[in-house]
Amino acid sequence: MPFFQQASSAAGKVDAVFIVICVLCVAFLVFITSTIVFFAIKYNKKRHPKGEDIEENVWLEITWTVIPLILFMGMFFYGWTNFDYMRSVPRDAMVITAIARQWAWSFAYPNGKRTTELIVALDKPVKIELRSLDVLHGFYVPAFRIKEDIVPGKNNYTWFTPTRLGSFDIECTVLCGVGHAEMLSEVVVVPLSEFESWYFGDEESLPSSKAVTSAQTSAEPQNPAVAILEKGSCLTCHSLDGKVMVGPTFKGMCGRKRTIVVNGKEQEARCDETYLSRAIQSPMADTVKGYPPTMPSNPLGAEELKQVVSFLMSLK
Ligand code: CUA
Repeated sequence: MPFFQQASSAAGKVDAVFIVICVLCVAFLVFITSTIVFFAIKYNKKRHPKGEDIEENVWLEITWTVIPLILFMGMFFYGWTNFDYMRSVPRDAMVITAIARQWAWSFAYPNGKRTTELIVALDKPVKIELRSLDVLHGFYVPAFRIKEDIVPGKNNYTWFTPTRLGSFDIECTVLCGVGHAEMLSEVVVVPLSEFESWYFGDEESLPSSKAVTSAQTSAEPQNPAVAILEKGSCLTCHSLDGKVMVGPTFKGMCGRKRTIVVNGKEQEARCDETYLSRAIQSPMADTVKGYPPTMPSNPLGAEELKQVVSFLMSLK
């Protein structure tokens, strides 16, 4: 049952609070509704044609005030202590920064590693610093029962201790634009030894992960420019195969005419190094006609930029 899977130390606590509150609410719903129905029948107009005044009853009033008060304070206390647990990060937690942008996730590790899926060690606490490069996003890992908004300009955080091996979905929970539904990633929980050999090794992704598997199965070794495009999440919006996504496809981009909008005026773009470098580094300076002006700027090194530009110009 993946829906009910509890894969972090907080999951059981969140579920317990949810179940207690839910059971109490259902019990009161049944109790109050059946009392209303019972009284409506017992005291209806046929049986009691003449209305009477009912004098106050102090003890009844005290009872129906104090019992719900105790129950609600109990709910509050139970919820508060578990919420407090979820905001108290253990001192030895590894700090990883989750960077959200339209419409992709990337994760930055203390040693400078960058990934598109969150790789963590089993039973080791992790603090996630949440950062947005553009608009509101939401960091949600259903199996961990953690969900936190990522607000641009604000430093929010969450934390978890994974208690199960495997891959768990990361979803964005704030409607952040046309690509919102595709803003997905995964937490990959591996044994500590595997995590350490990955963390201190040269590989970008885990030896067992999908990214490497697909590269190994394809006949050609992966192009370094494609690796840069993947790392920068460029391929979430631009396809390599002609498919129209959020942005124009990279396929044959220098072979076709493109109209760009500069300062509100349309003009033809020459597909040369200058144009491509500018389009990558300051994408808002001019935009391709018919596409939304949503691309974030990309801090590429000079060498990376050169590789990407010559790759894009060579794509037929
Ligand atoms: Cu990011 Cu929805």
